[in-house]
Amino acid sequence: MASRQPEDDAQEGPEPVTTPHADAVKIIPSPPLETRWPPFALRRYAGGFWLPEVTVKEGLPAVHSCFVPRPSDVILASFPKSGTTWLKALAFATLKRSTHPPSDGNHPLRHRSPHECVRFLGIELNDKNKDEFEALPSPRVLATHLPYSLLPGSITGDGERSGCRIMYVCREPKDALVSYWLFTRKAALARGVNVRSFTIQEALELFCDGRCPGGPQWQHVLQYWEESVSRPDKVLFLRYEEMLLEPEMHVRKLAKFIGCEFSGVEEEGEVVSAIVELCSLGKLRDMEVNRNGSTRLGTKNESFFRKGVAGDWSNHMTPEMAQRLDKVVDDALQGTGFAFSSTT
Ligand code: A3P
Repeated sequence: MASRQPEDDAQEGPEPVTTPHADAVKIIPSPPLETRWPPFALRRYAGGFWLPEVTVKEGLPAVHSCFVPRPSDVILASFPKSGTTWLKALAFATLKRSTHPPSDGNHPLRHRSPHECVRFLGIELNDKNKDEFEALPSPRVLATHLPYSLLPGSITGDGERSGCRIMYVCREPKDALVSYWLFTRKAALARGVNVRSFTIQEALELFCDGRCPGGPQWQHVLQYWEESVSRPDKVLFLRYEEMLLEPEMHVRKLAKFIGCEFSGVEEEGEVVSAIVELCSLGKLRDMEVNRNGSTRLGTKNESFFRKGVAGDWSNHMTPEMAQRLDKVVDDALQGTGFAFSSTT
C-alpha cells in the first residue's frame, strides 16, 4: 500500500466539494483520492474531511435525502474508535430502561450487538432500508461518524427546525490512532486485503495528514466541541478517558441530557450501576453475539472490543512518533480553547 501513491495531492487537487451534499458526485466527479488507508478509497470532501468514497457517493446523500429526524431522536456522534460501541450500549440501555430494565435476562444487549441496537446513519441508511429506520419506535437512538458540518440542518437544527439532541464522544488522538490502526488491519485482513505495508508508521503519517476516514480527527472533535459550547442543551460532549474513570456519573449525565433522569427509586435500586455493568467491556465482549456475530456490513462484532483503556498508544508508538502527532494536534488546535485529555 505504501507504494501506491494518492491519485492527486490534496494541496494540488481540485478544491474539495462544498455543497449541496446530495449532488456532490455530480458537481466534482473526482475530488482528491487517497488509497493507502485500507480497505476503502477515501475522498477529500467539504471542510477538508476525508471520507470513504462510498460515504460520499451513498451514505452522506442518503442522510440528507432519506432521513426524517424527529425532535425526540438522540444522535450519537464520534470519530471512529473513540468509544462509539460503548456509548451506543450506554445510551440505548439508559433510554430504553423502562421497557428493557438492565437486569432483564432477555435485554436486547444480551443477544444483539450495540451496533444492531443502535444503527448508523451515513453508513447503513439508504433508499432501500429507510423504512426500517422510520419504523423504529421513538425515542430513537442512532449514530453517525459524519463530521458536524456535514450533518443536515434537520438534525443540527436550522431555521424553524429544532433539530435533534447529539451526544459526542471524543478520544485522545494517539489512542484513537492505535485503536483505529489495529482495527483497520484486522478488518482489512478479514476482507483478504494485504496490509503488510500498513504499519503504525504509515498509519501515523496518514493520520497526521488527516488522511483517514473522518479525518482530520482533531477537526472532527473540534466541530462538535464548539457546538457543545454554544448549544449545551443540544450537544453533549463526552470524553472517553473521563467515562472510564467515572462511568456512573456519565450515565447520570447522559440520562439528564436526554431528559430521562433516574428517579429516587431507580437510584435505590442501583439501576445506574446495573447499566454500567451490562455495558462494560468485559460483559459485552463475552456475550455470544459479540464473540461470534457480525454487523450487517460484515465486520466481526468481536473486533469492536479490545483493551478499552487510556494510554495503550505507548505499547505501539515510540516517544518520537507520539511527539510528532502531539505537535500536529497542538499546532492545529492553537487558539481554539480546546485541548484533549492527556494519557501520558
Ligand atoms: P481499544 O482498541 O483501545 O481497546 P469504537 O466503538 O468507536 O469503534 O471504539 C472502539 C474502542 O472502544 C476500542 O478501544 C474498544 O476496546 C473500546 N470499547 C469497546 N467497548 C467498550 C466498553 N464497553 N467499554 C470501554 N471501552 C470499550
